[in-house]
Amino acid sequence: MENEELVRLAIEAMAFAYTPYSGFRVGAALLTAEGKVYQGCNIENAAYTPTNCAERTAFFKAVSEGQREFDAICIVGGKDGILSGYTAPCGVCRQVMMEFCDPETFRVILAKDEKHWQEYRLQELLPMGFGPDNLKKQG
Ligand code: THU
Repeated sequence: MENEELVRLAIEAMAFAYTPYSGFRVGAALLTAEGKVYQGCNIENAAYTPTNCAERTAFFKAVSEGQREFDAICIVGGKDGILSGYTAPCGVCRQVMMEFCDPETFRVILAKDEKHWQEYRLQELLPMGFGPDNLKKQG
């Protein structure tokens, strides 16, 4: 799938962002290895800490439906849904990506619109990340 299409799906997902406290709306489109897309939006909470980012919403939807292999995620976001800059994933979301993705190959696409996007590998955004391999028995 082309990045342009993933951007379109992330923007579509942002429409459902529930952001009565920050007004910062985020949408994500997560592409599985088999080519399926899971969309997510941020979901805020009056108690603040239970807030879930768009990226984690997408990951948890996918994993809860049996997906375990991922190719890329596209993220869009902005105050009041105005996409004036690039929205990078927070540290917690990078760590969730680290759990399910190969940091050398998983692509994180930050977009403003279908023509303006930047692509990174997870490894660039989370250098020396701690992941499942760290807990494997040492031989
Ligand atoms: N947020 C995301 O959904 N993803 C990010 O990568 C950055 C932050 C949300 C959480 C909160 O609802 C709002 O943006 C402001 O932090």
